[in-house]
Order: sequence, then structure tokens, then C-alpha cells
Amino acid sequence: MRIVAISGSLRADSLNTRLAHAAAGLVPAGVEIEVVTLQDIPLYDEDLRSEGWPAAVTTLGERIADADGVLIATPEYNYSISGVLKNALDWLSRLSSAPLAGKPTAIMSASPGMFGGVRAQDHLRQILFGLDARVLTRPQVIVNLAADKFQEDGSLSDSMAVELMRKLMEALTRAGGDKDAINVQQTRPRWEPARARAVGGIRGAGQV
Ligand SMILES: Cc1cc2nc3c(=O)[nH]c(=O)nc-3n(C[C@H](O)[C@H](O)[C@H](O)COP(=O)(O)O)c2cc1C
Repeated sequence: MRIVAISGSLRADSLNTRLAHAAAGLVPAGVEIEVVTLQDIPLYDEDLRSEGWPAAVTTLGERIADADGVLIATPEYNYSISGVLKNALDWLSRLSSAPLAGKPTAIMSASPGMFGGVRAQDHLRQILFGLDARVLTRPQVIVNLAADKFQEDGSLSDSMAVELMRKLMEALTRAGGDKDAINVQQTRPRWEPARARAVGGIRGAGQV
């Protein structure tokens, strides 16, 4: 089983690249995970594309196509994803192989701010919907105040985030191994039991 982890940041000391590497250390046994960055992807230009696909784009597309699942660690820039990541997704969306279509995909984010990139994740989900990726819905991995949470050895000191990352990587592995298993057996949101009771009540009354 192979997973490609994409960091949406170019900078050498990126929190999100560190997050992707931390996730790589949490995959179940037997899963290979490769962290990739987007340094070589040129700015999308239809003229450039018509001259021939840039090698970095086709290579990334092939890596994704060959993988069983994809992980994207996104920075938050002005309440959205980085331009670098959007640019790469735009290129990938134009490949005739549509490497992300139907691909089990997990997302996470790290930010030094209070909200941990959650707004970028919302935008990323929307974009991935356009690419027909099969985005896992939970657990949601949002690492806030992240500048102080990575140790020298790259590990993450936020034990709750680590636990959620482990669960997310397990869910991605399950989804990658069984394409029908997506979103099965993931953690439930805290409000789900209450909602289930309410629905049961309505059914009991014969209204549904
Ligand atoms: C142009 C720009 C816009 C940013 N906007 C946000 C933002 O909306 N929310 C946020 O939490 N952090 C924001 N930040 C801070 C980034 O989260 C921070 O620079 C982070 O370290 C970027 O991710 P990286 O470490 O993976 O490169 C912004 C940074 C830049 C450069």
C-alpha cells in the first residue's frame, strides 16, 4: 500500500511539511508513504501546457495515480490554501488521467494561529470536490499554535493531534485498501448519538 503526502508549502522549515513527515511516522505497518513538495511545479499557463506537459506535473500525476491514497497538508493563506497548492491542483485537474478522481484523500493543516488552518481545509475540500477526489471527512486534523508544537526530531508534542493523525492515517489506509470502505469506522462527531436518537424517534412515530 502506497500513500503520497503533498505539502502545500515550499519553505524549508514549513510546519506543513513537518506535519506530513510526522504523519508518515504514524501510518500502519506495511504502508509506504512518500512526502513530496511542489518546488518544481511551474505556474499554470495554458500556453506552456500546449507546448508540452511540464515533467514535474506528469511525474506528480503518475505518483498520485500509482498511489492507493493521498494526504495533503495545507497551510492557510488569507483564510484559504496556498497559491502553490492551488496551482498544483489546477495542473492535476487538467491531466487526462485525472489522477485524483476517486482517489481516497485525507487532509490536514498546521498554522501558528489559533484556528490551525481550518478555513483553508474548507476551501481545500471544495476544490477537491471539483477534482472528484474522495475526501475523508474525519477525523479532522487541525494543528493550531503549531510553531511551538514540533520537537527537534520532527515529532509533534500535541498528543491529541497525534492520536487524530494516527486515526486519520488508519482511515486512509482502509479507504485505500477497500475503495468502498471510505468513511467507514472513522471517529464519530460528538453530536452524532443525539442526532441518531432524534432520527430514531421520528421513525418510531412513523413519519419517515
Ligand atoms: C500570505 C500569508 C497569509 C497568511 N494567512 C494566514 C491565515 O489566514 N490564517 C493563518 O492561520 N495563518 C496565516 N498565515 C500564516 C501561516 O499559517 C504561516 O506562515 C505558516 O507557517 C505557513 O505554513 P508553513 O509553515 O507550512 O509554510 C499566512 C501567511 C502568509 C505568508
